[in-house]
Amino acid sequence: MLDRIEQLEREADADLAAVSGADDLEAFRIKYLGSKGALKGLMGLLKEVPPDQKPAFGQGANRLRKKLQESFEAAKGEYVSAGGGRRGPKLDVTEPAMPPRLGREHVITQTIDALIDVFGRMGFDVATGPEVEDEYHNFIALNIPQAHPARDPLDNFYLTPPSRENPHLLRSQTSTIQIRVMETTPPPVRIIAMGRVYRPDAHDATHYSMFHQVEGLYVDENVSMVDLKTTLIQFAHAYFGAEAEVRLVPSYFPFTEPSAELYVKMKVRDRWEWIEIGGCGMVDPAVFEAVGYDPERWTGFAFGLGIERLAMRKHGIQDIRWLFENDLRFLRQF
Ligand code: DAH
Repeated sequence: MLDRIEQLEREADADLAAVSGADDLEAFRIKYLGSKGALKGLMGLLKEVPPDQKPAFGQGANRLRKKLQESFEAAKGEYVSAGGGRRGPKLDVTEPAMPPRLGREHVITQTIDALIDVFGRMGFDVATGPEVEDEYHNFIALNIPQAHPARDPLDNFYLTPPSRENPHLLRSQTSTIQIRVMETTPPPVRIIAMGRVYRPDAHDATHYSMFHQVEGLYVDENVSMVDLKTTLIQFAHAYFGAEAEVRLVPSYFPFTEPSAELYVKMKVRDRWEWIEIGGCGMVDPAVFEAVGYDPERWTGFAFGLGIERLAMRKHGIQDIRWLFENDLRFLRQF
């Protein structure tokens, strides 16, 4: 009968050696130490043990119970303290790790960075200005008269009543930054300025109430329309590729004279098309007067391009709203 104890002890030792996790250990506890476990079974045999062997059998069974109880407690301590523990699943430190999911720049930010790069190589510095503007910088200094449709209160986000003197509004164009730069910097200046602009347009595939523009301004002695066109051609080639062509179509803006719309011929889904990407022109003398530049001495050109339009044309994005929905399945493509 005493053999039964030794046999159970060997079996328990083997089982314990094979334990490799908290679940195994719990199974071990139930099998040997549980209320219907092997040790209970052993004690149940006591009545069948011959009387002369009963004390030895009892002692042996108790010793084994104590030993297994201690082994169990020790193993449990290991799993708890080492969170998986020495006996836990083998950790292969050479196994390649899960690649971390990296974030990326938004396609608009990438476009802005590309613009800074292209114009930076042509010598343009980056300037900034506030998104909350006043009427003076958004319209008046830019030679936009009170009656101009762009000043209609319904076409702007006014923040203070439009009837008040020099009311505040969310800027509707980055041309405001031309004024702010010239007010604080003596000529010559050569800057680009990127940023958000706001107009209360209904949202559809090509309109959004907030979008981005890049503004360019170059003022020096003897700056001519040739400089403007050369700069825009250089830009179009760098941004859209050497095959892109540039066309200036006469137009009107209050802050430039002459003014033009800028078209770039580019490939749109395998077809070449002329796409309008912004406006430009020679800075109007009235603007120079507003900022205290001598219009007899200084000449300059300016341009303003839609950044969403550039990005959408370059990447074949068909709906401006996709740019602002922050759906990662869309954004991850760029
Ligand atoms: N500010 C104009 C707009 O928002 C774009 C523009 C046209 C900017 C001509 C210029 C320019 O600097 O010279 O539509």
